[in-house]
Amino acid sequence: MTQLAAQPPSPAPARERVPTASLAELLRRRKTGHSLESTFYTDDELHDLDVDAVFTRQWIFVAAAAEIPEAGDYLTVDVGAYSVIVVRDDDEQVVAYHNVCRHRGSRLLEDRGFVGNIVCPYHRWTYDLEGSLLHAEAQPKDFDKSCFSLRTVNVRNLSGLVFVCLAAEAPEDFDRVAELVEPHLRPYQLDKAKVAAQHDMEERGNWKLVMENNRECYHCDGHPELVTAYFPLFAYDEEDISPRLRPTFERYKKAEAALEVVRRAQGVPMASYRDLSDRPVGFQLTHMPLDGEGKSFSAGGGAVCAKLLGEVKEAAFGDLSIHLQPNSWFHVLGDHAVVFSVMPTSTTTSVLRTTWLVHPDAQEGVDYDLESLCAVWKATNVQDRDLVAATQRGVADPSYVPGPYSMVEDDVEAFVSWYVARMREHLAVAGA
Ligand code: FES
Ligand code: FE
Repeated sequence: MTQLAAQPPSPAPARERVPTASLAELLRRRKTGHSLESTFYTDDELHDLDVDAVFTRQWIFVAAAAEIPEAGDYLTVDVGAYSVIVVRDDDEQVVAYHNVCRHRGSRLLEDRGFVGNIVCPYHRWTYDLEGSLLHAEAQPKDFDKSCFSLRTVNVRNLSGLVFVCLAAEAPEDFDRVAELVEPHLRPYQLDKAKVAAQHDMEERGNWKLVMENNRECYHCDGHPELVTAYFPLFAYDEEDISPRLRPTFERYKKAEAALEVVRRAQGVPMASYRDLSDRPVGFQLTHMPLDGEGKSFSAGGGAVCAKLLGEVKEAAFGDLSIHLQPNSWFHVLGDHAVVFSVMPTSTTTSVLRTTWLVHPDAQEGVDYDLESLCAVWKATNVQDRDLVAATQRGVADPSYVPGPYSMVEDDVEAFVSWYVARMREHLAVAGA
């Protein structure tokens, strides 16, 4: 039996007692190009601040509009202590309200469903879908119903992707980002799509670890199902291509040229944008070709849905990949779309919600097989979940010290620097 050579024990790194360091100091000393200190992933007080500074102040992705296709369809979203109702009103617009009755504060709606009006379960105050109070029993003559409408929440429906912002003054640059992104999403008509499946996965990791993991493909060898169609070159520049990846890169360049021809023929843009950390609505958009048949996420890259989305005429339409800070990413293909949101549920847990969208007329068992449609991302999510859980355990270990990002983790750095900038703004850390 081979004996493993004994490894000398690493000297225990001198670790500062971070609980005593103020958050301002932690932010000030954050080393660019390195992972965050343990406290950012393990400290309850800091987690509460994340919710305040990020999830209740920035635009966050909460749902596909296709989840509430008809007037009266609603869903609720918990954000920290807040609950938000997202509902399709009588004009079929997506609107959002605080899920708090204007009488004595009861929660109004749970989970998701359909309502004609929003009726409080406690004393039956009744609101229409525009949030106006219609009815409140036993009120004095001078009771003015118009003073007790539901409190609105900022909401945007970006070509079928629904974002909310709980701040009184939402970051204004959402509109500029929407202007840039919308022409790219338009051909897919996601607002009219059908939800084929939705899956919630509990992550045993701080929400930032889930996002950081998403923002790099350095670990893509751990995704055998995904890389049969997805080129594992995300965030790679040509000079980052190792000899091992060179043949994949050559295939990528050919597939990219072919995709350009297809998209030009349909008169749709192929531009890309990357502005991930300098603006409140940090985002990135790219059109990436797929490997193999180049059509979809499947073994060999074949289509997984026979009916193509929206106005798409060619199945090999590439992967419109969009990342938005702080909590979402999207893959929009010719035959389906997969949209992802991450919501924190505690310091060390989060929920990854994955939603698969198809053409509204696509029929399960006829145009698509549900298992095949979801197979790649279900497997990928499980693999990522395990990576995140292992990282959470590691960063909570007293021996952890932040390590350096590789050349292909620029977007992890962009995510972290976006986050640090928002936290600094929130705390108004002078000179940080
Ligand atoms: Fe809603 Fe009383 S709390 S009607
Ligand atoms: Fe991954």
